[in-house]
Amino acid sequence: MIDKLRKITDDIYDRIESFHARMDRRHAMAIGAAAGVTIAAIIAVLTTWDTRHRRPEIFTEMAYSVAGESQADRSDLEGFPFADGRVQRPTPEGTVYLGQLGLTPWMFDRKKFEDLPKEQQDAINAIGIPSKIEQQDFDANLARGEQVYRMSCSPCHGRNADGQAPVNNYGMGAVSLRTTTKSDGAIYHQIVAGGSLMPSHADRVRPDDRWRVILYLRSLQGKYDEK
Ligand code: HEC
Repeated sequence: MIDKLRKITDDIYDRIESFHARMDRRHAMAIGAAAGVTIAAIIAVLTTWDTRHRRPEIFTEMAYSVAGESQADRSDLEGFPFADGRVQRPTPEGTVYLGQLGLTPWMFDRKKFEDLPKEQQDAINAIGIPSKIEQQDFDANLARGEQVYRMSCSPCHGRNADGQAPVNNYGMGAVSLRTTTKSDGAIYHQIVAGGSLMPSHADRVRPDDRWRVILYLRSLQGKYDEK
């Protein structure tokens, strides 16, 4: 082992010495200075390059799109693209995603569950996973449910849905979803409306995917073990 290391280091020293023997001192300093300036220039460009701003334009007659980065704060552009300076917009009230009719019952508005009239709460509690999701392509739906869970829910509810996520050490207080006693409809409503601390996920999780997440949670709870 040590022999190998010695051989390598000796080899390096040999190369350095032969390099110095071939180069005279001023020559080497000039090359070193040029390399230093180049590296410094590259670092300076990379650290000050602000991709959100345009370079000086050469062909100024060209129109350009005003697309912005989602969630970027462009309040510097005075009302662009919206008065609040944010790019990401909520979907308009009552939006039904293409092909999602029938998966989005009317009563799932963004009011808190507790604020809904009793009959509506009962109606929501009575809703179960649609048969389209539960009985067709079960494995694919379950896999998609886990994928969506990991992307959208696990940061707070933990990757095993047991509430063991780092954010909960800082007061987020996301509960275990393995032990939740909420009905399918009520979980769906929680995804749409959010909770006291949980934000609404209506804009992030499509209606069919909401049911797939519930399918996944139910499978974690052992509901489909016999299948
Ligand atoms: C930003 C953190 C956060 C994310 C992301 C999040 N939740 Fe929550 N969730 C919470 C918190 C905090 C609570 C408990 C307090 C409350 O209701 O707001 C909660 C509560 C819940 C409850 C109620 C459980 C019970 O038994 O009362 C359900 C169901 C739920 N979340 C489902 C989900 C699903 C499904 C997702 C992913 C689509 C998700 N959550 C994403 C923070 C989050």
